[in-house]
Amino acid sequence: MLEHLGSFKRTHYCGEVSTKDIGKRVRVAGWVDTTRDHGGVVFTDLRDRTGKVQVVFSPEISEELVEKAKKLKHEFVIAVEGEVRRRPEGTENPKLKTGEVEIYAEKLQILNKSLPLPFPVEDEVKVGEETRLKFRFLDLRRKKMAENIIFRHRLYQVTREVFNREGFIEIETPYLTKSTPEGARDFLVPSRIYPGKFYALPQSPQLFKQILMVAGFDRYYQIARCFRDEDLRADRQPEFTQIDFEMSFVAERDVMDVAEKLLRSLYKELLDVEIGEIPIMTYDEAMNRFGTDRPDTRFGLELKEITDIAERCNFKVFRSVAEKGGIVKALNFKGGAKLSRKEIDDLTKFVGIYGAKGLAWIKITENGLQSPIVKFFSEGEMNEILRRLEAEVGDILFLVADSKEVVNSALANLRLKLARMAGLIDDSKVNVLWIVDFPMFEWNEEEERWEALHHPFTSPREEDVEKLLTDPGSVRARAYDMVLNGVEIGGGSIRIHREDIQEKVFKVIGLSEEEAQERFGFLLEALRYGAPPHGGMAFGLDRLCAIMRGEESIRDVIAFPKTQRGQCLLTGAPDTVRKEQLEELHIEVKNPED
Ligand code: AMO
Ligand code: AMP
Repeated sequence: MLEHLGSFKRTHYCGEVSTKDIGKRVRVAGWVDTTRDHGGVVFTDLRDRTGKVQVVFSPEISEELVEKAKKLKHEFVIAVEGEVRRRPEGTENPKLKTGEVEIYAEKLQILNKSLPLPFPVEDEVKVGEETRLKFRFLDLRRKKMAENIIFRHRLYQVTREVFNREGFIEIETPYLTKSTPEGARDFLVPSRIYPGKFYALPQSPQLFKQILMVAGFDRYYQIARCFRDEDLRADRQPEFTQIDFEMSFVAERDVMDVAEKLLRSLYKELLDVEIGEIPIMTYDEAMNRFGTDRPDTRFGLELKEITDIAERCNFKVFRSVAEKGGIVKALNFKGGAKLSRKEIDDLTKFVGIYGAKGLAWIKITENGLQSPIVKFFSEGEMNEILRRLEAEVGDILFLVADSKEVVNSALANLRLKLARMAGLIDDSKVNVLWIVDFPMFEWNEEEERWEALHHPFTSPREEDVEKLLTDPGSVRARAYDMVLNGVEIGGGSIRIHREDIQEKVFKVIGLSEEEAQERFGFLLEALRYGAPPHGGMAFGLDRLCAIMRGEESIRDVIAFPKTQRGQCLLTGAPDTVRKEQLEELHIEVKNPED
């Protein structure tokens, strides 16, 4: 039997009833977390978003009430009125914020029932993520998830406070728009009114925020949704949120200062953590030492190049790689000489994922070196390798020879895997750094053409402009990425505000004038009407939030995320649509069964 709230007015949230309320009559409402019948007295933990409080239904107060309470089940929605009492000595629950008190119920209203649950609403869930996503409303009732979402809310608020304080203006930009190139595929929305035409959902507000600078707003920010149809991973979603900002009349340091202010305020206000000076590392140094442009520098295990030794040695694999312009790099896994053959084989398979054709190793043991490749090296060559890697008894060296890309990617990932295996990562550390001096362009082997490493509106360094057409590979971008614990949490750049330079950049990436005009004509046009020098940046809010909450997956800080396969299991999207809808959109689906 369900009841109405009637004149019931809540006086307290469950989690906020405290010893200050002892002796008071309170009214609380929420969900039945647990309920137990202890010989005629019913104890119910009542929960709302603030936490739990124990409610006691006692025959001393009303037999009838106890009978009614006995019918309560998990997740029933109830309202209770009663008196707050101190719990009898010895029955306090130190784990609960309200653990010193309980409410002696005098009235109980059952406002709604619940079906039996697919999984209990408790801290540790034992069901797979699919079930959690399907029943997200239950999953979000769990303490940790509710806290994540509320934390995220506070993250928005502090973000807005910081930008408002710094004189930024919050402006929304469209979702139904034209393609914005950020390197992923677009999500398209067909137009009903214009047959055969499509809107693209923005991959970022990039072009609009630049136009806002031309429009004179000077400092813009937005907590913006971005859409990218790309292969998903734990830290990628097809729609995700950026903290996006742009500023006029600035150089790199001005934008970086604002980004640092934001990060510092977020850590200070939300976690009471002070972030010290943020070091700056060049792209080249990051690639050399860590094999990646988002290094986790909470631990060592740095990569060392040994191409110069490899090209002199007798190991054919290494020498031919070196002769063909590839590289050989190695890392020293301290204390790893005890790894078994099987473990080394597994690591060899692991680096294979990143394209490495093998994983050579050298164990340094009490009885000398153990290694399948040591026989190919002279004593002098081997000693040089050992010295360069600061090898000691008990260590194992891992070596990979291949193209620069493969070697770096294989060893960067191996480095992380070994660090996790050996527990080298101190999770309590907050490791922030800037990566700067990125190359402007990257050679696309397959398509045999240059591509912009960031987006093509990134400005080259002044002194490199003249090399744009003659030596694009050596041109550096005025771009900067922020890396937090080995994750790229943000990136941006000073933009091109001159048409002549923009044209050259398009030329390098093989974009014809007509194509550029067709795709970004509106931006190029705006740049002709007094565009101020400008630059900006965007943080990945989901990634930042996940790291701050210690979550592995960004899905755990998003209320309604998609699966790795891009589905929303709660709603069932993407889904088929009615034939009439397709007709209205002038769309015919080929082989819908495929
Ligand atoms: P960028 O493409 O580097 O820059 O994106 C900025 C940040 O957004 C996060 N991010 C993602 N998070 C979740 N899922 C995704 N699929 C995803 N893709 C990116 C990352 C990244 O650092 N317009 C430029 C910014 C600028 O130049 O001002 C841009 O979008 O943390
Ligand atoms: P092989 O002579 O092919 O049996 O290889 C000897 C050792 O070198 C094995 O441990 C291989 O895993 C390793 N190896 C082979 N190719 C490479 C490579 N490109 N880079 C690093 N190690 C390799």
